[in-house]
Amino acid sequence: MKLKDKVAIITGAASGMGKAEALTFAREGAKIIVADINFSGAEEVAQLISAEGGRALAIQVDICQNSDIKQLVTHTLNQFGRIDILVNNAGIFDHYKTSLETNESEWDKIININLKGPYMATNAVLPTMLDRGEGTIINIASVAGLVAGKGGAAYTASKHAVIGYTKHLASAYASQGIRVNAICPGTIITPLVKDIINNIPVENIPAKRFGQQEEVAELAVFLASNQANFVHGAAIPIDGGFTIQ
Ligand SMILES: NC(=O)c1ccc[n+]([C@@H]2O[C@H](COP(=O)([O-])OP(=O)(O)OC[C@H]3O[C@@H](n4cnc5c(N)ncnc54)[C@H](O)[C@@H]3O)[C@@H](O)[C@H]2O)c1
Repeated sequence: MKLKDKVAIITGAASGMGKAEALTFAREGAKIIVADINFSGAEEVAQLISAEGGRALAIQVDICQNSDIKQLVTHTLNQFGRIDILVNNAGIFDHYKTSLETNESEWDKIININLKGPYMATNAVLPTMLDRGEGTIINIASVAGLVAGKGGAAYTASKHAVIGYTKHLASAYASQGIRVNAICPGTIITPLVKDIINNIPVENIPAKRFGQQEEVAELAVFLASNQANFVHGAAIPIDGGFTIQ
């Protein structure tokens, strides 16, 4: 088992990639905090993990709310005693709206959830990780953090910023035992893209297919594990070759 007895907080874990990460991390021996604004969905994932013999706790969290984030960390430390892994996975999409099509409240919402949320969760877990001199953080960015055309103005800006934030964190805290990396998925079949997937041309992807959420979860397991001990500040595409063209 690659994550035996590690304690992992995964945000947005009620659905899609976060759910796959929660289930896969649990199968690798981690204890999981299934954190999501959708509490019933989070409970379902925690129950699935328990049914497989793993340990999980569902917590309702709006990652933009400081009080929720503080409670998340307190609850995790009370239940499991430490935090080894944070996966900043929760995020929303902007349906390709250009800058002129994006109003101020839409811009604020995307930036708040996709960028400020990871900052808030990271700042909440870092002190306990630094106290122990170890910890790893994985930010789920996107190929929209590397190139244009895979999201609208706010989404693209938020995901580019998440990669910049990842690099900052990695350089600031690597010497204190903290590893921070980003994953940049291409189109992955999840509820987030269910309304648009039929309009995304699969022929533009060298692998000629969309990704599976479990494939992203396996990359997250690697980054969270000791096998990735020398990987700091990377932004790794998992996109069927989309960004190599
Ligand atoms: N699906 C794709 O093709 C794709 C591609 C690249 C990147 N991503 C990124 O991957 C991540 C996961 O996406 P997904 O496709 O699994 O989406 P999803 O919609 O299936 O899951 C997102 C989860 O985040 C939760 N969430 C939303 N706002 C929240 C908040 N304020 N606080 C707490 N939880 C909140 C939702 O309830 C949901 O359970 C996102 O950051 C997304 O931007 C997705």
